[in-house]
Amino acid sequence: MGEAGKPLRFNKGREAFRLLSIKASTGFFLEKPRSECRETSEIYTGFLPATGLVMKSQTVTHSKMADQVRAFYDKHPYPPPVNSLGDYRRRWENEGRRRADFHLFFPDRAYQADQAILVAGCGTSQAAKYALRQPEAQVVGIDVSQTSIQQTAALRRKYKLDNLELRQLPLERATELERSFDKIICTGVLHHLPNPDAGLSALHQVLKPDGAMHLMVYATYGRSGIYMLQEYARRLELGHTDQDINNFAAALMALPLDHPLARLLGESPDFQRKDALADALLNPMDRAYTVPQLLDFLERCGLTFGRWVRQAPYLPQCGALATTPHSARLNQLPRREQYAAVELFRGTMLRHSLVAYHADGSAHSESIQFDDDDWPNYKPIRLPETIRVTQKLPPGAAAVLINRSHTYPDLYLPVDALQKKLYDAIDGHRTVGEIIGGLAEVERGQQTDLRRFFQTLWQYDQVVFGSGRVGEASVK
Ligand SMILES: C[S@@+](CC[C@H](N)C(=O)[O-])C[C@H]1O[C@@H](n2cnc3c(N)ncnc32)[C@H](O)[C@@H]1O
Repeated sequence: MGEAGKPLRFNKGREAFRLLSIKASTGFFLEKPRSECRETSEIYTGFLPATGLVMKSQTVTHSKMADQVRAFYDKHPYPPPVNSLGDYRRRWENEGRRRADFHLFFPDRAYQADQAILVAGCGTSQAAKYALRQPEAQVVGIDVSQTSIQQTAALRRKYKLDNLELRQLPLERATELERSFDKIICTGVLHHLPNPDAGLSALHQVLKPDGAMHLMVYATYGRSGIYMLQEYARRLELGHTDQDINNFAAALMALPLDHPLARLLGESPDFQRKDALADALLNPMDRAYTVPQLLDFLERCGLTFGRWVRQAPYLPQCGALATTPHSARLNQLPRREQYAAVELFRGTMLRHSLVAYHADGSAHSESIQFDDDDWPNYKPIRLPETIRVTQKLPPGAAAVLINRSHTYPDLYLPVDALQKKLYDAIDGHRTVGEIIGGLAEVERGQQTDLRRFFQTLWQYDQVVFGSGRVGEASVK
């Protein structure tokens, strides 16, 4: 991105291109603006723009790229197929988990189980999981890969998922479903499309005006080691036969321990399996987004940012950054600038997972606010991955709150004795006001501290809030 987050533009001869993503320390991906060219992308592999050098270029039609992606996932379906969803079903039998998930996306709506859900690019099991965990919902799963659809169909038969419909259909043609959805899940897919804007715009067209999307795309900086190895594979013209993958896995055993990919190779379960390795390193089409690129992407496709699925890693108010001399300066930035700065500071984010709404619809994004008087009416619901630790505490703490889905060790929240009592009183049904009113220890005049505490719980992904008419929720 150029100055002030504007896309960088390049001229080659008489043609203008914009920078879509940097593929590795030695490569970048340019595309003609969509208005000028819908069907082709040009990939340049070479030095970064600052050097002014372009080593090699290749024009690939979008349909050829899409064919390559489909063929890849037919051969290497992802995630690895599963036979049993028993544990998954048991986890989602928990009413609190279902309510927390609902209000993450719809903070200002009463709980609704019978939603219309689209899982776009559903892979081998994701659509079946949604149909299983939300039996009252009508779930549609679409994917280009026949293998993935077949794997999901086997789960549908096994678990008698009558509420699941499957279609082998590119998400770019989602309007052919001729219906609209309360919730669209599209995780790990858009960054594999030759034209992600066309894909997301198609999904935008089938989202109900008050619907929500769950999107996940790759993040640029944290994946730099992956892009280096992708570039390495391209230079060696590696294919993705079983032999190629075995050889690649063997070669990676010799990767220097301080290579930017080494930590991921060692720590991420994604790299322990060969199919996952192929998905990460040999995928024919893979791009990533920085925070500003992602927010621009949403805007171009008629969407608005709601929240990060796990927000603490993006907030300068959480974790180690909050204690640095930059804290005040970071807090003064607009929200999107804060996220962009924190992504740069953390440096290792691998993916961005977010909630988005119609830009012109009744967005739920601003419904959780702490600068007016509505916060005592919010109903806090604990997120299921949260734990409360009461051993080996830092001085002055009565407990430490942790969300186990966070991968950054600085994201823990020490609480004092009163805060611990407030936290313990959260039962998913009472409002903040009712919780505070039920504690004799709370003194008059503490409103600001209390407000800040519940805001902090929310920022640290300890709770989500139901606001508005949540009290009328009917949970089955
Ligand atoms: C990495 S997998 C992610 C699967 C699933 N969303 C999940 O998170 O478990 C990517 C999936 O997107 C599918 N896909 C790729 N291009 C697609 C397109 N244009 N339309 C629909 N699905 C697509 C692939 O076939 C593959 O199943």
